Amino acid sequence: MPNPRELVEQLHHRQAEAEQGGGPRRIAQQHAKGKLTARERLDLLLDDGSFVELDRFVTHRATAFGIGEQVYPGDGVVTGYGRIDGRLVYVFSQDFTVFGGSLSEAHAEKICKVMDLAVRNGAPVIGLNDSGGARIQEGVASLGGYADIFLRNTLASGVVPQISAILGPCAGGAVYSPAITDFVFMVRGVSYMFVTGPNVVKTVTHEEVSFDGLGGADVHGGTSGVSHFTCDTEPECIASIRALIGFLPGNNLDEPPLHRTQDPDDRRDETLLDIIPDSASRPYDMHEIIRRVVDDGGFLEVHRGWADNILCGFARLGGRPVGIVANQPAVLAGVLDINSSSKAARFIRFCDCFNLPVVTFVDVPGFLPGVGQEHGGIIKHGAKLLFAYCEATVPKLTVITRKAYGGAYDVMSSKHIRGDVNLAWPTAEIAVMGAKGAVEILFKDEIARADDPAAAAARFTDEYTAEFANPYAAAARGYVDDVIDPRDTRPRLVDALRTLRTKRDRNPPKKHGNIPL
Ligand code: HXC
Repeated sequence: MPNPRELVEQLHHRQAEAEQGGGPRRIAQQHAKGKLTARERLDLLLDDGSFVELDRFVTHRATAFGIGEQVYPGDGVVTGYGRIDGRLVYVFSQDFTVFGGSLSEAHAEKICKVMDLAVRNGAPVIGLNDSGGARIQEGVASLGGYADIFLRNTLASGVVPQISAILGPCAGGAVYSPAITDFVFMVRGVSYMFVTGPNVVKTVTHEEVSFDGLGGADVHGGTSGVSHFTCDTEPECIASIRALIGFLPGNNLDEPPLHRTQDPDDRRDETLLDIIPDSASRPYDMHEIIRRVVDDGGFLEVHRGWADNILCGFARLGGRPVGIVANQPAVLAGVLDINSSSKAARFIRFCDCFNLPVVTFVDVPGFLPGVGQEHGGIIKHGAKLLFAYCEATVPKLTVITRKAYGGAYDVMSSKHIRGDVNLAWPTAEIAVMGAKGAVEILFKDEIARADDPAAAAARFTDEYTAEFANPYAAAARGYVDDVIDPRDTRPRLVDALRTLRTKRDRNPPKKHGNIPL
């Protein structure tokens, strides 16, 4: 028997071989494309020295097309676990230098193993995708491997956070694993995702389009909404994943992590008095309000660049992570439309899965009118948002800064759908519609008959404004819990959040609801 030292040397040799992936030439090609390798990505993602690799000696079992001669330990994916700011995460990182990161049966088994461990141990799964898709030489075994992953993605949904970074190709059915996960990150010039590539598109629809134009980071971050975070570089992408993990619990039974902050809980903000413009039709940037209220102005925005008429993202209040949803008057007057409804609905459902209170800032003129919206199904998409707010049992805090009109008032975390603490600024207008529209309907005849129609319209508008365009009619019925000085917004929210730490609420037992999809 060889002596133990020789065996250990052999082990080190095998380990080093596995770390070479597809070899120096292919690593150089990967770098030449401006991309990091699978292991370099994990080095950036995880705390120094925390990565523990699993299955580095796994190899494929295929023989067709001469592939039996080409065996690379690890088989094109690096898997294991490590820490982000000391907290456990499971990871897989596809290695494009081995068969283009393509997914074999063994490669899929490795991914499934870390997913199973993540669910069993209650920690997030982060997948770094860089793959040519199904390992062509393995045929149906590869397709089975994808399905095994899809099933696990679905069963893990709502149990542990799942995060996907697309750091190269992600094509064909392979896109559906990231699509089921909670958050997708893409990098400009590096990532692309599509179900069918430019060649097939050209054959079928005669459209000519580049890889980037079909499924690059800007397409999915700005047009399709498939991606939640669009980054300029891989290091920026990986830093953003680390930041996101900082807001999330390890699993659905854990609380989100507390962060110490120097920002006083009772900090009032003078500038909040001057943010709402004098005219109800003038826009302002809702980011300003969010940043002035939350801890240290920190706001990690999700889906920035897509459906920007609603803002979604993570922040902290008194050290506690929260999900923020806010109408954005600076974009389309903050109206609710198909995309903004879907965007916020999915975000709220994520927060509800993972015990993140939802703080909603409301300034919404209603749902967007138009044939395109109606034919596109604004009814069912708007219903998603309503459904998401209604079913959420996490603490729900609402601040109405200005308009809360019509059905959108009900939808945006109103008291009626289990808003826990609903506050309004004195500038709030909680009504069926804005004064101008209401007056045009209610007093059409009177205005037409008046000697001076403009003066009559102005008088009726003033009357309507005094009667309805304020928060007090709602406050008189308890539909808002209080009308507050805007400067007190942070102290009031931090305090409300504290009272809601022991909130208990649940939905009736059922297999699952049937959200309008
Ligand atoms: C096996 C693959 C592979 C694959 C790439 N390679 N894709 N090996 N199966 N799917 C290998 C190449 O042979 C090459 O090997 C190395 O990876 C790098 O590939 P290149 O073509 O040189 O790289 P690049 O020019 O960057 O092009 C990348 C690419 C292209 C666009 C991804 O490789 C490509 O089109 N591959 C095929 C994609 C595809 O059709 N996949 C199946 C889709 S269907 P060497 O030895 O030269 O390094 C699918 C269904 C999933 O995925 C269904 C789930 C339900």
